[in-house]
Amino acid sequence: MSSLFRLFSLSLLLALVSCAQSPKQPAQHDEPLTSAEPARDPHSYSNPAQVRVRHLSLDLEVSFEKRILQGNVVLDIERTAAGSASPLILDTHDLNITQAETAGASSEFVPAKFELGPKDRILGSPLTIQLLPRTFRVRVHYSSSPQARALQWLTPAQTAGKKYPFLYSQSQAIYARTWIPLQDSPGVRITYDARVRVPRHFIAVMSAEGNFQTGQARFPGNTMRSLPSSVPTEVGSVAQYSFQMTQAIPSYLIALAVGDLEFRPLGPRAGVYAEPAVIARAAAEFADTEIMIEVTEKFYGPYRWDRYDVLVLPPSFPYGGMENPRLTFATPTILAGDKSLIALVAHELAHSWSGNLVTNATWSDFWLNEGFTTYVQNRIVEAVYGTERAQMEAVLERQDLQEAIRTKPPQDQLLRLELQGRDPEEAVTDIPYIKGALFLRHLESSYGRLRFDTFLRGYFDHFAFQSISTRDFVDYLNQNLIQSATVSASLAVPVEEWIFKPGLPATAPQPKSEALAKVEAEAKSWLEGRLPTSKLQTSNWSFQQWLQFLRSLPADLSPERMRELDQVFHLTRSGNAEIVHQWLLMAIRSQYIPAYSRLEEFLITVGRRKFLRPLYTELTKTPDGRERALAIYKKARSGYHPIAVATIDEIVGWKVE
Ligand code: BES
Ligand code: ZN
Repeated sequence: MSSLFRLFSLSLLLALVSCAQSPKQPAQHDEPLTSAEPARDPHSYSNPAQVRVRHLSLDLEVSFEKRILQGNVVLDIERTAAGSASPLILDTHDLNITQAETAGASSEFVPAKFELGPKDRILGSPLTIQLLPRTFRVRVHYSSSPQARALQWLTPAQTAGKKYPFLYSQSQAIYARTWIPLQDSPGVRITYDARVRVPRHFIAVMSAEGNFQTGQARFPGNTMRSLPSSVPTEVGSVAQYSFQMTQAIPSYLIALAVGDLEFRPLGPRAGVYAEPAVIARAAAEFADTEIMIEVTEKFYGPYRWDRYDVLVLPPSFPYGGMENPRLTFATPTILAGDKSLIALVAHELAHSWSGNLVTNATWSDFWLNEGFTTYVQNRIVEAVYGTERAQMEAVLERQDLQEAIRTKPPQDQLLRLELQGRDPEEAVTDIPYIKGALFLRHLESSYGRLRFDTFLRGYFDHFAFQSISTRDFVDYLNQNLIQSATVSASLAVPVEEWIFKPGLPATAPQPKSEALAKVEAEAKSWLEGRLPTSKLQTSNWSFQQWLQFLRSLPADLSPERMRELDQVFHLTRSGNAEIVHQWLLMAIRSQYIPAYSRLEEFLITVGRRKFLRPLYTELTKTPDGRERALAIYKKARSGYHPIAVATIDEIVGWKVE
C-alpha cells in the first residue's frame, strides 16, 4: 500500500516536472518546415521533425475470447534540436491507452503524463506524451478495440478448417494505429521486434523474421515445416513467438496473423503458409515463386529481404494481396488451379523493390508504390510466362484505366493526388496503378528497354530504405534519364502532364494483343449469330481470353443468350474467381436468374473488396436488385473485414444501429 502510494506521488511529481519543462501547447502541425524537412503527412498527427521513433518493441497477448490485443509497446526515440522541448505525438485509433512511461538510455521506466486528443473519423486521436530531457524510450500500455479497423477476428466457421478462430491484420494505409500506438506515416521508417503470446496450437506469423520460442525448438526465418507437434508444458496453455525486423520499414508494413497454419517450402528462399486444408493447392499454385524472385533480381538488383513467403488467408481478406515484407498476405481467390491469376504474386513480390525498399513518403505519392509495382509486375509476367500473356494483361488493364478515366472526377485522375482532409482509401483507384504503369512504359519505349532498366535499377539502389515524394522521383528522373539521353521530339515524354494533369497524354502507349483481338472477333460473330455457341473455339482459351470474351459482350445481353453460354461453358460454376465475378456482374445486368444463388454464395464467402464493390454497386442500380443486395448483405456483413464493411455500408446505405 505504502509503496503504491510512493509510486503515485512520484508519478505526480514527475508529471508536474515534465509539464513545467514542456511548452504549454503541444507542437502545432502547421508550423513551417525548413526545405530540408520532408513535407508533412496530412494523415498523421505525429511530429517526426521534432521527435522521431526509430524502433518499436511490441509485447502483445492475443485474446480470441475478447477479440483484443493487449500489452505494451516500447518506442525508441530520437530528438532533433528543434524537438528538445517537444512531446512525442503518436497516432492512435480506437485504442484503449492505460499507461505511458518514459526512460533514459539505461534508466528504469517512470510514469509519464499523457493525453488522448479528440477523435477524428478518419485519423483517430493523437496521443501526446510528455518527455523528460533525457528520455530515450517511451512505453505505452494499451489494448486494441474489438472493432479495430486493421484486425479481423474470424470465427472457426469462417475458416477452411472450421475448427479454430483466426486473426489477421491489414495496416495499409492508416490502420496500424488501430492496433499499435505509433507514428503512422509512411515517411517514418522503423525497425521492430515483437513477442506475441497466443493460445496453444496456434501459429503466429509477422512481417519479420520469426522464431517459435519454446526453450528447445527454434524455427529460423519463416521456415517451419508444419505445426510444431507439441507446445511445451512449461508455458502452460500459451505459446510465445518472437520476431524481429532489422530493416527499417514504414508502419503500414507491420503485420500479424494467428491461426491454424501449416508451412510448405517452395524453394530455398520461398514458401507458403496456409490452413492445412488449403496448403497443397496453395503450394501447387505458387510453384513458380522462386523463379519470379530470380528474374526480378536480374532486372532490379538483389532481393533484400532474405525470405519471401506467402500467407494464404481465409476468403474474407479484403484485398487480393498485401506486400507485407518477407510475408505477402494473399486472398485464396487466386487459387484457380492453373496459375492463371499468379500475376498477383508477381505484383506483391515487385513491391519488395517498389514500395517496401523505396516507399511513398505520403499517400499522395501512392502511385510511386503502385504504378511502379504494376509496371514491374508486368515485366515479371513477361519474363516468366511470355510476351503474349504480358500483352494480354496490359490490354485488359488498359481497358480498366479507360473506364476509370471515364468515371472519375478530373482531380482524381492525377498521379500525384491532393488528399488533405480526405481518406487515403480514396487514392486506391486504377489511376495510380495503371496510369502509373503506363507512364513508365512510355519512358521505357522512348528511352529503350536497356536504358530504362538500368535507370530503374539505379533508382531502387539510390533510394533504398527511403521514403520519397513525387518531386524526389521527378528530380531523379530528370537528372538520371531525361537529361543524360537525347530522344527526338516525337519520343519526348510529357512528364509533368503525366503526373499533374487528368486523363492521358495523346502519346500514351496503347498496348496490343493479337490473342485478345481474335477473341473479340469471335465474340462479335457469336453476337451477330454468325457463329453458334457450340462452334466457339474456346478450348485453348486462357483466363485472360475468357475475360476479354465476356467483356466484349454488351451490357444488355438477354438471359436466353446468357443461358446458351452457361449451358456449354458452365460459367456460373467456374472455379476462376475473376471469371465468376465478371459473369455475375453480367448476370445482374441481364437478370439471369439461374446465377442468382451463385451470386449470393459468392458474396457471402468472398470478402475481397475488388469483387464486392462492383457487384453491390450493380445490384443497387434497380429497386429489386437493391432489395436483394440488402438481403444478401444482412447475411454476409458479419463475415467481412471492417475495411470492406465500411465500403459496402456506404454502397447499400446500411444503417448502423
Ligand atoms: N498494397 C496493395 C493493397 C492496398 C492498397 C491495401 C492500398 C491498402 C491500401 C497491394 O499491393 C495491391 O495492390 N493489391 C492488389 C493486387 C493487384 C493489383 C494485383 C489487390 O488487392 O487487388
Ligand atoms: Zn500493390
